[in-house]
Amino acid sequence: MSKHTKLINEAERRVQQAKEKMDSTYRLAYHIMALVNWMNDPNGLIQWNGEYHVFYQFHPDSPKWGPMHWGHVKSKDLVHWERAPIALAPSEWYDEGGCFSGSAVNDNGVLTLIYTGNVWLNEEQTELKQYQCIATSKDGIHFEKDPKNPVLSEPPFDCQGHIRDPKVWKRGDDWYMVLGTREGNNGKVVLYKSKDLRHWEYVNILAESDGRLGYMWECPDVFHLNGKDILLFSPQGIEPEGDRFQNLHQTGYVVGTLDYETGKLAHGAFEELDKGFDFYAAQTFEDEPGRRILFGWMDMWESQMPTQQHGWAGALTIPRLLELADDEKLLMKPVPELQLLREEHMRLESISVNEGTYALPMKGDRLELLVRFSLADFQGNAFGVKVRCAEDGSEETVFCYDVKDCTMTFDRNRSGQGEEGTRRAVLDGQLGDVITFHFFIDRSSVELFVNDGRLVMTGRIYPSETSQGIELFAEGGDITVCSIDAWKLKDIWLEE
Ligand code: FRU
Repeated sequence: MSKHTKLINEAERRVQQAKEKMDSTYRLAYHIMALVNWMNDPNGLIQWNGEYHVFYQFHPDSPKWGPMHWGHVKSKDLVHWERAPIALAPSEWYDEGGCFSGSAVNDNGVLTLIYTGNVWLNEEQTELKQYQCIATSKDGIHFEKDPKNPVLSEPPFDCQGHIRDPKVWKRGDDWYMVLGTREGNNGKVVLYKSKDLRHWEYVNILAESDGRLGYMWECPDVFHLNGKDILLFSPQGIEPEGDRFQNLHQTGYVVGTLDYETGKLAHGAFEELDKGFDFYAAQTFEDEPGRRILFGWMDMWESQMPTQQHGWAGALTIPRLLELADDEKLLMKPVPELQLLREEHMRLESISVNEGTYALPMKGDRLELLVRFSLADFQGNAFGVKVRCAEDGSEETVFCYDVKDCTMTFDRNRSGQGEEGTRRAVLDGQLGDVITFHFFIDRSSVELFVNDGRLVMTGRIYPSETSQGIELFAEGGDITVCSIDAWKLKDIWLEE
């Protein structure tokens, strides 16, 4: 048995033991999470041999970040998931400090993972060197590290060791790879090219900070949508600017045209992709030509995570379909497959919410909720939805749309445990007579999609289990609600 397999088997045994002690109060019903302990970024998203595979950064030994492994789940329909054993463990000299983020490709039928091997150069873990590596599998479950590893050892310029998160795609006969890096205090994305995934030729700096876009760029992803090339990435260190860039790190995109000869992306301005609190290190993949699906890590570095005391931390967002609108705004929509999770349904039509609040007859902590407000005759200043409300009014999470400046505010100051605060963002695009709020509420998360993905806000919240009420409200006038649909959602795990 290889050292890698032995380490995986041992880690799996420790995971099963740790699971016994976990407190499942805030465990999510229909979001991907590790079985126990810490997880962060989605990795290696791919559809391979008729199944979807999602890997993720995983620390099997603690609810805090530590030596990174790759956890693994798979699915036939993108919503019902089955756990697979740990795919990667740090077993070699070039990844002894962790198997960091990366991607997956189908190389002539072989499921191939490309990841970053991290090596700490000092005990304080302040200095590091990063290598790009490959692991392959014929059965989609067991992975072997490639004898040619590391397949890329030296950076194209001095980046203080920081060069990671390979995202690989094929174009014609060539493989391309982007890596996140830095030079001095400017984040960059570099482009490489290869014929065989084992020998890489440096092409160019694909995009870089102009001095205001952060000191390090993580998790780059390049894809083609609606005739444009999009670079999705996660910059560290952008200064807050009004309502923008309020999270510790951001995830966003630029839209442009990639010249594959020069390796340069000519692009427009950087835009945050999700305007909530907890969204980072997102990655995409395509299952059919033109169908681009995204998962993000539904947390943020350095934020309080109350479930660490329960023996676990971290989750992924629901899968989201990407669309590029004509004004080059990237929209995120829940994938249609999520409808498979719907069970009990409730529909109400033509309700007038008098100034004040209206409590829905349906309650819950794992719900999909679609509310269509009519703006036509509204004379007031604001309206919205409160979710996870306590009966005695002590807890609520508020989404309030302000008509004057067309902004949506997500307020989690009274959400329960965990980090508080508000996030605010403008709802742009063509505003018709109806505004749609589409919520996915789970035991410790809320994702809101406004007007078919023009504005998306995601956040973790930790209310009491009994806070399950939903209320609609209007301020300064009555509002008509055209319709409300609510569904209870099922669990996504096939076993457990
Ligand atoms: C992003 C990130 C990646 C890195 C991984 C380590 O959240 O910092 O750049 O590969 O997490 O877990």
